[in-house]
Amino acid sequence: MNKTLQMVDLRAQTAAIRPDLDAAIAAVLDRGAFVRGPFVAAFEADLAAYVEGLGSTEPVYALGVGNGTDALQIALMALGVKAGDEVVCPSFTFVATAEAAAVLGAKPVFVDIDPETFNLDPDLLHAALTTRTKAVVPVHMFGQCADMTAIRAVCDPLGIPVVEDAAQAIGSTWQGRPAGVMGDLTCLSFYPSKNLGAFGDGGAVLTTDEDLASKTRQIANHGSAKKYHHTTVGVNSRLDAIQASILSVHLGHLPAWIDARRAAASCYDAHLADLEDVTRPRRENDARHVFHQYTIRVSADVRDGLRDHLKAQGVPTMIYYPEPIHQMPPYLGPALPETERACREVLSLPMHPHLSIADTEYVAGHVRSYLEAGVPVAA
Ligand SMILES: Cc1ncc(COP(=O)(O)O)c(C=O)c1O
Repeated sequence: MNKTLQMVDLRAQTAAIRPDLDAAIAAVLDRGAFVRGPFVAAFEADLAAYVEGLGSTEPVYALGVGNGTDALQIALMALGVKAGDEVVCPSFTFVATAEAAAVLGAKPVFVDIDPETFNLDPDLLHAALTTRTKAVVPVHMFGQCADMTAIRAVCDPLGIPVVEDAAQAIGSTWQGRPAGVMGDLTCLSFYPSKNLGAFGDGGAVLTTDEDLASKTRQIANHGSAKKYHHTTVGVNSRLDAIQASILSVHLGHLPAWIDARRAAASCYDAHLADLEDVTRPRRENDARHVFHQYTIRVSADVRDGLRDHLKAQGVPTMIYYPEPIHQMPPYLGPALPETERACREVLSLPMHPHLSIADTEYVAGHVRSYLEAGVPVAA
């Protein structure tokens, strides 16, 4: 029987908890507090408590902001990044990671990835650092933490701050510590399709450093701690109360949603295990992967054909990411072989908490049928 699957099933997710969402939105309308105020403060406290509960030994400060891109920019501003500085990050990521540095006049300097985890390769990090490096921004790609131990071991002796881009990785851990407490600052995105999504844009900056917490709060509020009194140059970036109240409801379901994603990933793993032409996402022993995406690798010659075949069977796929940032006009930089190869070989399969075992079997079965049939030789 043919199915029609979704990459992300936001309608199913919303339908399952609709009365709670309706009540949360109604509470904001009844109170009439739409910007900052009690709903945002409550969500910030819930978010900090959630991250602390995953294994932090220190209190976490959480600040809601307009989106994940703003979170990155505000974090870099809090570290004093300015024109002429360098910010080191991967090129295999969404453009926002580099854009946040570029918009401040700093230069993104790209480091290649580990081909099995898609995360910044810490062995290549030291060579990318200069006296102009003001921050390193590892991305926890697809929901699995970068090797934060190795990254800090390179950066700490040089006094270089680390900003975690955890836009895809809320709830993930590395050696028992959560994303959100391993960097000096951490950035989250609540874009609707993220593991914790709003019904519009949203983001957050996390830190365990009280001083950085107060700096980010001021920067996000026009550089002001006191109304109409501005002590630094800031921006206007706020999480609004309706999004915050929706996020508070979603946060309550996040642990179960993450478990469901991990279970779906295990089903994919089992069904794809014997396919030699498929490289499954590697789970690091030290990491708890939250599977924002389940991304396989296949040879570049078969990827597009496989994609078309899956589409014809009602299975959508995505290519995260088709083009490395260092090959985009505003960000040109030296070659990065593993990043470029990944862009040619990756294929993300449907992944969301409402994917059934039968769905994963169906997807894997069609990956198998295409690869086992052999690819037609071009005429
Ligand atoms: C790795 C990464 N960084 C940053 C962002 C930016 O987040 P937002 O879309 O909320 O601005 C995203 C999400 O789109 C992302 O995936």
